[in-house]
Amino acid sequence: MTRNDNIQTDLREFLAQVEAGGELQKVSGAHWDKEMGAVTEVLYREKVDKSPLLLFDAVPGYAPGMRCLYGMLGSPLRLALGLGMDPEKAGDRRAMLDLYRERIKTHEPVPPRIVTTGPVLENIDRDDDVDILKFPVPVHHELDGGRYIGTACGVITRDPDTGRVNVGTYRVQVADGKTAVSYISNGKQGRIQRDKYLSAGKPCPVVIVVGIDPATYIAARYTLSDNVCEFDWAGGLTGRPLECIEGELTGLPFPSHSEIVLEGEISPTETVPEGPFGEWTGYYAGGARPEPKIDIKRVYYRDNPILTCAASQKPPHSHLFERCFIRSAGLLDSLEGAGIPDVKGVWVHQAGSGRTFVAVSIKQRYYGHANQVGIVASQVNPIGYVGRYIVVVDDDIDPTDINDVIWAMGTRSDPKTDFTILDRNWSSRLDTMVTGDKLYNSRVVIDACIPYERIETFPKVAQTSVELAAEVRAKYPDVFG
Ligand SMILES: Cc1cc2nc3c(=O)[nH]c(=O)nc-3n(C[C@H](O)[C@H](O)[C@H](O)COP(=O)(O)O)c2cc1C
Repeated sequence: MTRNDNIQTDLREFLAQVEAGGELQKVSGAHWDKEMGAVTEVLYREKVDKSPLLLFDAVPGYAPGMRCLYGMLGSPLRLALGLGMDPEKAGDRRAMLDLYRERIKTHEPVPPRIVTTGPVLENIDRDDDVDILKFPVPVHHELDGGRYIGTACGVITRDPDTGRVNVGTYRVQVADGKTAVSYISNGKQGRIQRDKYLSAGKPCPVVIVVGIDPATYIAARYTLSDNVCEFDWAGGLTGRPLECIEGELTGLPFPSHSEIVLEGEISPTETVPEGPFGEWTGYYAGGARPEPKIDIKRVYYRDNPILTCAASQKPPHSHLFERCFIRSAGLLDSLEGAGIPDVKGVWVHQAGSGRTFVAVSIKQRYYGHANQVGIVASQVNPIGYVGRYIVVVDDDIDPTDINDVIWAMGTRSDPKTDFTILDRNWSSRLDTMVTGDKLYNSRVVIDACIPYERIETFPKVAQTSVELAAEVRAKYPDVFG
């Protein structure tokens, strides 16, 4: 495990790197009520992962310096910077994935270092002084049920049995200046921890980082096994302990360079309506429901704080690129961990909202290999939750190239024999195809590999060979430019 000082645990250092890379755009005067979200979306739809990081300032009704940021890691360059990789590699997804996985392979958790000072303590609002609407909290989408302060955030809880601290990115809506409410999907570690307190009739202590640094944000959204704390994992990513402060009320740790941190407790008895919210599926799915109320009793924030935002919606959107990248890496890890040989590549596609359409490439070694890979991929992290289509292709197909994948489906799979449908899988109320309280879905594994018994005799691919392509390029340079 080597130390990587290029990975930032301070958002402002990261912004300086992004600005130097030419991808920071400052926007002045956009309103918190739908405008910031709309500017982000419209620009992203036009430019996709060439869209800049947007830093909104001078929000109407708020003092200059109270800022909102969208699209922190939403381009290959910004993700490379966030992960401390050579920005030169940002053009090549497969190379980036390999580099990242190399780092993850030697990853060893590094526990945080508890400190008593840090920029986030520049301002502290306590009890009656708490007003979470002092920040320009956006209504991100036109039909959202309210203002969401937590989107690109980290919700921190502690397991009452084991003491393990969990950090998860879960949406957090403002109920009023002193209360909030979060939607944590069933099965998520934060939900399991929270419910242990609530079912015992006790309030659940919570800290919510709503102005988050890149390293902690990457860790918070990562599905880790439930004995690893995300702070330790972030420390392992950077190779140095994350400096954390302990909250005055809960003792829960949070990064000392955070921009804005809320601290309080989740009520075992009171609920408030939560939702709807434009979600990663591309819909306002899930409607509005009562969720446990969160009383905010402390707010810690830096001078001129930055609220970090990530508004999901119909793909593509400003935080989908990194989502697909990180999930692809996570799925490769899971498949390798399951002991399956010769998995050559994985891509979790943006068009599938980063969950519902996944391609895995393999070098076929035995009968049933493709189906085995597909079935395992359909159930393990991070696709086990709300997966839908898993396509397994041969290693001459680039899984990141949707045209290549569809071509393989159309020419190497026969729906009658090569589609395996799995029922009663882990889903969510956000799943548009799930109704009622039974949160199951079905999914299909598509074996789009050449049938193993026909590998030697299958028709040859009609594509110019690498050698002939190089020859004609060299011979006719004017044509290729
Ligand atoms: C921007 C963003 C928003 C998210 N919002 C939610 C959410 O509202 N509820 C939820 O259950 N998961 C949400 N997730 C997914 C979780 O963060 C993710 O599954 C994570 O691994 C959960 O952490 P855990 O494994 O510690 O439970 C979101 C992820 C991202 C990147």
